[in-house]
Amino acid sequence: MRIAFSKPALPDKGAVVVFASEEKSLPKLSPVGRSLDRSVGGAIARALTASRFKGRKGQSLTILAPGSSELTRIVVVGLGKPADITDLIAEEAGGTAIGELQKTDETSAVALVEAPAGCKLEPAGLAAHFALGARLRSYRFDKYRTKEKKKEDKPKLARLNVLVEEAQPARRRFARLDAVAEGVFFTRDLVSEPANVIYPETLANEARKLSRHGVRVEVLDEKRMKTLGFGALLGVGQGSAHPPRLVVMRWNGGPRQGKAAQPVAFLGKGVTFDTGGISIKPSRGMEDMKWDMGGAGVVIGLMRALALRKAKVNVVGIIGLVENMPSGTAQRPGDIVKSYSGQTIEVLNTDAEGRLVLADALWYCQKRFKPKFMVNLATLTGAIIVSLGQFHAGLFSNNDEIADRLTKAGEAVGEKLWRMPLGDDYDKMIDSKAADVQNISSGGGAGSITAAQFLQRFVNKVPWAHLDIAGVTWSTKGTATAEPGGTGFGVRLLDRFVSDHYENR
Ligand code: BES
Ligand code: MN
Ligand code: ZN
Repeated sequence: MRIAFSKPALPDKGAVVVFASEEKSLPKLSPVGRSLDRSVGGAIARALTASRFKGRKGQSLTILAPGSSELTRIVVVGLGKPADITDLIAEEAGGTAIGELQKTDETSAVALVEAPAGCKLEPAGLAAHFALGARLRSYRFDKYRTKEKKKEDKPKLARLNVLVEEAQPARRRFARLDAVAEGVFFTRDLVSEPANVIYPETLANEARKLSRHGVRVEVLDEKRMKTLGFGALLGVGQGSAHPPRLVVMRWNGGPRQGKAAQPVAFLGKGVTFDTGGISIKPSRGMEDMKWDMGGAGVVIGLMRALALRKAKVNVVGIIGLVENMPSGTAQRPGDIVKSYSGQTIEVLNTDAEGRLVLADALWYCQKRFKPKFMVNLATLTGAIIVSLGQFHAGLFSNNDEIADRLTKAGEAVGEKLWRMPLGDDYDKMIDSKAADVQNISSGGGAGSITAAQFLQRFVNKVPWAHLDIAGVTWSTKGTATAEPGGTGFGVRLLDRFVSDHYENR
């Protein structure tokens, strides 16, 4: 979908989006909406009265062929109370509008963007975030639906023209947001691809594509990882016909020298398919494990977003890529492996594999790059879905400042985090009788926390946060800004986290 910004004019044909706010539990059309209403003989006002639409955020009302005009439809979207309108609400409105239009045969639409009296957002911001919501909602992963009836099923909306007085500033604000949307789309593409297409080598190739945008990409193969001693990561991959990879991506947009040059680091779990290995998973729902590389997908998408918007920061992105398969060469429950850190690990359950992959990646990252901090993302535990469902990712951290900054960034972009505890009592639960540490606790619950404790044993003294994104990487129902499927959760959050705190301006 192409999105353009231009100066306002009253449209007289096609599809139009207008805003309404909520005033004393009644919908109130924007001024330009009222002009439009006059041009269609009061059809909008009549429809508002006849409906239950209140102008609340998330609400919408579509009016077909109003009056004697050549307009095909008017989509009224609610913004809620003017004083409460945020960037996020503007995005939701954009998403809702596109959701409505995509159910139709419209190929283009015009949105009349105006901030209602009392709205704290500038009109340019309102327009840019509305457009971002529209952009994010317009994404579909349909490349394999070769027989989809083009005429009936496929959304056809190809152009959205956002009409706003401050067209030029809105365009500029949107360009930056759109770079982030590009990152989100890359992530959504990667998690949506099936595991016969995306496996360690091909996912590494996708990461290599970032070099077009100025990201330096380095790929460590199995041989190199053997030499380095990545026993934990390699153990997970040893049952698969697809050899593992570790990818290091670097974006150097920050200072070259001095303390300010120290990079920030993001790491991702990239299990391209998780059968559970010999501790095999039940077959029901196993197809979901194609998106067990979601953490790696976010790191790739984030690097793309940061590079596209030329972020003024030095960033290292590291992803550990393996396929967890049962086979004659697979790792067995009870195997003891030696991690890159030197710590030995008793693998009591081969399905607790993500932490093994991250153990070596985290140690490698802090040792080689001495980062300011490390943030890792992983679809790590089913237990985090039990705790938080689909509406928060779990946040674990050894550093309150980073935890607070991540939480705030998440709130700002609508990717919410909920902090979970860490502590010695939980740490003891993964002490092993046979090795330095075991990869699962032997009973006692707290599955997401013990997984995080395991990771913490490999971060050394570096400030660190772990985001367990198992519940938020894939949406079954969809949201205002994402169709059901891969969400890209994490890209916008970390982009915001970086831009709010770590960029040189
Ligand atoms: N990839 C899974 C976690 C997961 C489950 C992600 C559901 C998304 C949806 C992870 O590797 C795993 O299998 N974890 C086990 C750990 C257990 C063996 C201690 C789990 O959560 O059951
Ligand atoms: Mn697993
Ligand atoms: Zn997994």
